[in-house]
Amino acid sequence: MTPDLIKRYAAPVPRYTSYPTANHFSAAVTAEDYRRWLGELPQDAALSLYVHIPYCRELCWYCGCSTKATQRYAPVGDYLAPLFAEIEAAAALVPPGHRVTHIHWGGGSPDILKPADIRRLGTLMRSQFSFAPTAEFAVEIDPRLLSEEQADAFAEIGVNRVSIGVQDFDMAVQRSIGRMQSFETTSKAVGLFRERGIRSINVDLVYGLPRQTEESASRTLAQVLELAPDRVAVFGYAHLPDRLKHQRLIDESTLPGPVERFAQAQLIARHLTDAGYAQLGIDHFARPSDHLATGRLARNFQGYTTDQADALLGFGASAISRLPHGFAQNAVAVDDYGRRVGTDGLATARGHAMHGDDEMRASLIEQLMCEFSVSWPDLARRFGAGVEQLRREAEDLARNDADAFVDLHEDGLRVTEKGRPFVRMVCARFDPYLSAEVEQRRHALAV
Ligand SMILES: C[S@@+](CC[C@H](N)C(=O)[O-])C[C@H]1O[C@@H](n2cnc3c(N)ncnc32)[C@H](O)[C@@H]1O
Ligand code: SF4
Repeated sequence: MTPDLIKRYAAPVPRYTSYPTANHFSAAVTAEDYRRWLGELPQDAALSLYVHIPYCRELCWYCGCSTKATQRYAPVGDYLAPLFAEIEAAAALVPPGHRVTHIHWGGGSPDILKPADIRRLGTLMRSQFSFAPTAEFAVEIDPRLLSEEQADAFAEIGVNRVSIGVQDFDMAVQRSIGRMQSFETTSKAVGLFRERGIRSINVDLVYGLPRQTEESASRTLAQVLELAPDRVAVFGYAHLPDRLKHQRLIDESTLPGPVERFAQAQLIARHLTDAGYAQLGIDHFARPSDHLATGRLARNFQGYTTDQADALLGFGASAISRLPHGFAQNAVAVDDYGRRVGTDGLATARGHAMHGDDEMRASLIEQLMCEFSVSWPDLARRFGAGVEQLRREAEDLARNDADAFVDLHEDGLRVTEKGRPFVRMVCARFDPYLSAEVEQRRHALAV
């Protein structure tokens, strides 16, 4: 991989956690549509539930999540009323024969909730939906907020997987991103969960942060391995200061360039695979015995998952639902969200109804992101003759593939080893919604 090649491909491109990507959603999808879609789910639908808690104690300067800083608990407590009301309104619409196979609380920082509110939210969800006995229940955790009482509450409501934000342990990096977090704080959080029988631990890391170097990433990795996580997610820092004002606090002159970013990503991947982790998709690593490594990989808004549910229902400000009919996203601003729930019960502000060849392209892009390959006979079985159009596009891609990123054969398309770090660019070639001018301002660099 030459520096010239890396620089050439360091263009902004979507992460493809959905197709079409959320910036192509529009106000054409309303709460009325979402209400009807919920009512039309199959009687025995397998459901995945996502709850968004859009609050943190302080805002990390690099943060790209939909969240707000608050030192007081009042806004968090106030948010729970519409959240509970929305959960009840949606639950009343889903078929009685459903079963919930995945639950995910994300944010923001769900561990900003008081223990009593963690229990109230967990109890409400269990009372409104039928959880499968084997359901996976995951929560995102900022270890700097976590107390023993909160860990007790999470264990009590049945949480069995936690995802802990680390990013980087290097002090110089932490100072440059406005997030101070010691190894001890992180290790204590891991211990609090393990002591309570929550054994499945994920750690989030970010590369491409200010002042990060291969050496500092290497040191962070050694410490992360001491925590023996089951999974590690490694994200490339998405620097979008035009859209995210707080990122302007970051001194751009200290950001590593694309060649350095690429080297950091490769180094982290090497460390993790040397330590016995399996690399999954573009940015996840798991112990070979972990579900993520043994099961069928899928991709949703949280990244890679084994979640194969028929529908994902999102609750809370900015949350996105994915139903067979399409996507429905709630109002992003907390007050707008609350108002909509108050008047309607639901809070859908925009979305996208799947039409034409959307479903087929979504499937192709998900397979490329998860397996780095796609099979024409497989797609044809599900989508019929329309696959011929994709095959023609793949032939065009292969004809102009001077850098040997893809391998086109009779039965399908495969991304080569060399092309894997650039798989998002390959997906983009099958995305007719993509408009260079808009995407330029919206997405992180491909490397
Ligand atoms: C909701 S946070 C995780 C839980 C908790 N709020 C915390 O930070 O500890 C989700 C993750 O997104 C990643 N992330 C946030 N902003 C990012 C950005 N601008 N670029 C890349 N990854 C980012 C971080 O790894 C972060 O841990
Ligand atoms: S990275 Fe996590 S803790 Fe930091 S502001 Fe974003 S959501 Fe909050």
